[in-house]
Amino acid sequence: MRILIINGPNLNLLGTREPEVYGTDTYADLETFLRAEAKELNIDITIRQSNYEGAILDLMHHAASERYEGIILNAAAYSHYSYAIRDGIKAISIPVVNVHLTDPASRPEAFRHTDVIKPVCVATIKGKGFVGYVDALRLLTKEVIR
Ligand code: DQA
Repeated sequence: MRILIINGPNLNLLGTREPEVYGTDTYADLETFLRAEAKELNIDITIRQSNYEGAILDLMHHAASERYEGIILNAAAYSHYSYAIRDGIKAISIPVVNVHLTDPASRPEAFRHTDVIKPVCVATIKGKGFVGYVDALRLLTKEVIR
């Protein structure tokens, strides 16, 4: 089972970025955690991060030819307004699970209360920190990919 995990803009700064919101665990900690959990679940994962919308689209477009069976996407701020990423998810045949570390809907900024990619993803997992990605892995392997 091959799953592609894509993290969007500013997630590379986890650890120092707004620690009162995102905590002090670093992006490297997230990768280490996910590799250990995936090994436990016997899932082959690739983790990528980009601050560029087009690069995120390229990763999604190439996922099928690279034999990925599911995508876990934290599109970060792009989730709130990127119709390009929304269209990109619709354009591919691979299921995409939408993950957010925080629960954007309960944060004060109004722009976070809209998630334009949510309707085209098979599920949204939010507010569970790093564990949300593991929930997404379990969901993709047990429920979506048969
Ligand atoms: C985020 C939530 C977004 O609102 C924000 O722009 C991010 C991270 C999260 O994982 O909680 O960059 O996607």
